[in-house]
Amino acid sequence: MIESPIPLDALLRSKGDHSESIGLPPGVYSDANFHLFEMEAVFGSEWLCVGRQEQIPEPGDYLAVTRAGEPLIVVRLADGSINVMSSVCQHRAMCITASVERTEDDMLDPPDHESGSARTFRCPYHYWVYDLEGQLIGAPEMGRTEGFDTADVQLPSLVVEEWQGFIFANFDPDAAPLTPRLGKLDYVLANYDVANLVTVDPFTIPDVPFNWKIMVENFMEMYHQSRLHHGIHDFAPSSAASYADYQAGDAAMYGVCDTVEPDGGFNPTSKALFPPFPGLSIQERQRIVFALVAPSLLMGFQADSAFWFYVDPTGPTTHNLSMSYLFPASTVEMENFGEKLEEAIAGVSTFNVQDMPTNVATQVGMQSRFAPRGRYSWQEGVLAQLNTWLVERYEAAVMSN
Ligand code: FES
Ligand SMILES: [Fe+2]
Repeated sequence: MIESPIPLDALLRSKGDHSESIGLPPGVYSDANFHLFEMEAVFGSEWLCVGRQEQIPEPGDYLAVTRAGEPLIVVRLADGSINVMSSVCQHRAMCITASVERTEDDMLDPPDHESGSARTFRCPYHYWVYDLEGQLIGAPEMGRTEGFDTADVQLPSLVVEEWQGFIFANFDPDAAPLTPRLGKLDYVLANYDVANLVTVDPFTIPDVPFNWKIMVENFMEMYHQSRLHHGIHDFAPSSAASYADYQAGDAAMYGVCDTVEPDGGFNPTSKALFPPFPGLSIQERQRIVFALVAPSLLMGFQADSAFWFYVDPTGPTTHNLSMSYLFPASTVEMENFGEKLEEAIAGVSTFNVQDMPTNVATQVGMQSRFAPRGRYSWQEGVLAQLNTWLVERYEAAVMSN
């Protein structure tokens, strides 16, 4: 385990309720050594979302993703279960799902995120072939290599859990199970039928130029919505925000914001563009929910649709940001769905064009000699919860040294 370059005492001051805690030491947002420590302390042992189950419905369907710098394959097996395994070829480490058909312009870029359907995976480099479970089943011209047996070679698999259609993997085979610690979220999301929602047009923005925690904080706190987003966020004002309690052991945090009228939406009309979720009560149609399955799956729920963000650090001051909408199947089947979706996407971008420059500017500020460890408003109480969750992990890592 790598040691924290920031003393534990300093980190511990950010634990606890918003009424007493202070912001994390600014170095956690930019220090290269702290980033290495955090990748071990948090991303090396926590449940990382790697996709949604409806993205790989049939045996052989797969997603190629990178999490915490590790190229992975998420694949549906013949028995319907899901295998998450390393895509690092056990011959000489080529990523077996990487495209080798590149133009001169992009030939030195890292492996793409891809999806597809396969019966086997063949490494493009020397044609070693693996089955869907990661077992090596073919390797050309290895007959003269003493003692070599394909049966001895296997792509390493991760432990996997599914929750409400989201697929999670963990690099730590002894990690505490995830789903029993998501009960509060199951309760608040019960009527959205999250397990059967459909992911639409997921995409990834590579190397977004700020620390992953700045993205998570901006997504989760509702203090800024009546300020930074004044006008366009008035349908769900900061004053109507509240957060569920956080207790040690919880794997998620969430907040609810009542909307001024039922069926609000994140677009210039402030109204839902699609039919509401079929199962919602009238009270549920008059609120939005923001949730984090820590560290990196963010979800937002409004009356007619939901969206997920996946935040994957690529360095101390950069992350890959994946995003997608989630809809009930009945909505996706509507005739004018494509048209409405474009409207919805344009609507969300009116918020993003305010949030993204704010996050970039916050990153600059966190690297200033004058960067604060500021106090929190009750409207951003979730940030103190997130800090508590993080510091619990930092502390455990320091103690295990
Ligand atoms: S590196 Fe994959 S076959 Fe050689
Ligand atoms: Fe925002």
